Amino acid sequence: MTVTEEIRALKKEKDAVILAHYYAPPEIQEIADYIGDSFYLSRTAAGLNSKTIVFCGVSFMGESAKILNPEKTVLMPDLRADCPMAHMADVEAIRRMRETYEDLAVVCYINSTAELKQHSDVCVTSANAAHIVKALPNRNIFFIPDKNLAHYVAGQVPEKHFVFHDGYCPIHEKMRLQELKEAKAAHPEAEVLSHPECPQAILEQSDYTGSTSGIIHYAAESDREEFIVCTEIGVRWKLEQDNPGKRFYFLKTEPVCQGMKSNTLEKLLHVLRTGENAVEVDPGLMDTSKKPLERMLELANTGTP
Ligand code: 13P
Ligand code: SF4
Repeated sequence: MTVTEEIRALKKEKDAVILAHYYAPPEIQEIADYIGDSFYLSRTAAGLNSKTIVFCGVSFMGESAKILNPEKTVLMPDLRADCPMAHMADVEAIRRMRETYEDLAVVCYINSTAELKQHSDVCVTSANAAHIVKALPNRNIFFIPDKNLAHYVAGQVPEKHFVFHDGYCPIHEKMRLQELKEAKAAHPEAEVLSHPECPQAILEQSDYTGSTSGIIHYAAESDREEFIVCTEIGVRWKLEQDNPGKRFYFLKTEPVCQGMKSNTLEKLLHVLRTGENAVEVDPGLMDTSKKPLERMLELANTGTP
């Protein structure tokens, strides 16, 4: 049996489903039952019936899946697959802000540890952040940790007062305006699609800004043939799969998330065979960090306020 055949057989035998983020390597996305952005994956994880979830993403994603499904086994091909941004905020800063501002909501980008979620009022992803912030009754918003996403959302919700944190995604933050200008000069007909984790200078030059799903959807709907994509290289697989006639270019310094790339077929097979790498969340954090995640799922479903 090949590795993929064995994975498919074990999946059935163990009543497991495989969830993969768009930044996971192509061969992982190909074998997954569900692929998507971080909002789609957490909503999907919350509604699954199978006994085991194998999450091919980074640790905050596996952790969120476990928090939303305490009774299920959540496995990750590599427990060290991490997102550096998830550790950038700190509880002390949250405490200080709560003392400083009345009528404050702590809005926590899902790319954060369970401990940070525990101290937050609601989680958001890039797909729903503006919608959820608008829906909150509070006027003051402490948005942790991503400064770029926070500024992007603040621009969409001018009626709220934002307090920014200084976190960032090391992969998106590295994107350089000069490289985008070079790509535009080489492909003048291309539309620029960017993720809101990119610095403002990149967003200002973009035709569309949105989550990984948003980018994939936009490219499929657009009648253009060429796109410069400012996000992690993993989205290329789905973009090319969905749009055989279109061409996708990335910036010269290839944006690669090491955590996402540490998901391999061999590791996936290993955890399915052995049941190793089960995600564990401190019992003291389970219920408290679930609340902001559930509030995100609720508020994301409300109509536009
Ligand atoms: P999405 O929510 O758009 O999938 O983004 C997740 C992420 O980690 C971006 O770097
Ligand atoms: Fe985290 Fe950036 Fe990787 Fe997304 S691309 S998982 S934000 S390090």
